[in-house]
Amino acid sequence: MSGERVTRLRGKDLLGIDPLSPGEIQLILDTAVEMREIAQRPIKKVPALRGKTVVNLFMEASTRTRFSFEMAEKRLSADSLSFAAASSSVSKGETLLDTALNLEAMQPDFLIIRHPHAGAPHRLARVLRSSVINAGDGAHEHPTQALLDALTIRLRRGGLAGQVVAIVGDLQHSRVVRSNVLLLSRMGATVRVAGPPSLIPVGMAALGCEVYTRMEDAIAGADVVMMLRIQLERQGRMNFPTVREYYDFFALTPERLKLARKDCLVMHPGPMNRGVEIDSRVADGPQSVILEQVTNGVAVRMAVLYLLAGGYGEPTAN
Ligand code: CP
Repeated sequence: MSGERVTRLRGKDLLGIDPLSPGEIQLILDTAVEMREIAQRPIKKVPALRGKTVVNLFMEASTRTRFSFEMAEKRLSADSLSFAAASSSVSKGETLLDTALNLEAMQPDFLIIRHPHAGAPHRLARVLRSSVINAGDGAHEHPTQALLDALTIRLRRGGLAGQVVAIVGDLQHSRVVRSNVLLLSRMGATVRVAGPPSLIPVGMAALGCEVYTRMEDAIAGADVVMMLRIQLERQGRMNFPTVREYYDFFALTPERLKLARKDCLVMHPGPMNRGVEIDSRVADGPQSVILEQVTNGVAVRMAVLYLLAGGYGEPTAN
């Protein structure tokens, strides 16, 4: 994209896509391609992070992100500790900052945080010595999700530049859409987003995307359709009349998928609401790469940990 050749990440943390240059994004994706090879070996482990300690601080539910970070840590031979909010002193009222400072006093090298409030990882990164990785903060950003989505598209399509990617669903409450629009537009893709008017946040187009209120307009001729979950847990009230009506206007069905390119990729970050934003015939169909996204999530998280630890060049040499 920019012509720059980057061999290291500049920052100590990964808090969002915005601070990453195209060269840094390329470096993470190139490194993740090498990390994918480790999963094909009989012994899926390299000593790259031996002696490093990672704390996984998940203060919001997660299956894919949490377990793929843990898998990535084990494959790189890091020591990892996972924090369960319910059985910790958070349940007695200890603040996030005090919790993080106490964990840091045990001298970990990384703190991976998922938190319901936007900006929580940024607050910690300002005071902690450890590298902080944002595993999803409120409706703000989910940078490693966008990186694994980009890797999935790149592996299937050979690149990101020139791809037309339609992202459809609950744009208001989605951190995935924000990180994806920033990343994909920065790497030369055209990004279209669509959702009910009540679920389109102010300022969406300024992120670098075309905004539609009819799903059909967004997916027409698209190379990739990425569906977003309706996040009922983040909505004080329903922003659409009924789930049935939502399905009728905004679900990816086999009929609607025919509007996209014949070989269009179907993506979803998970967890899916089957029969709400996506029909099972599409989710489980031949164009779906949803489980490939999960596989690529481990490789991307290995790449991010490795690069933030100062790694460059051949990741398996040690
Ligand atoms: N895509 C994603 O963030 O899934 P989890 O909430 O299960 O981590």
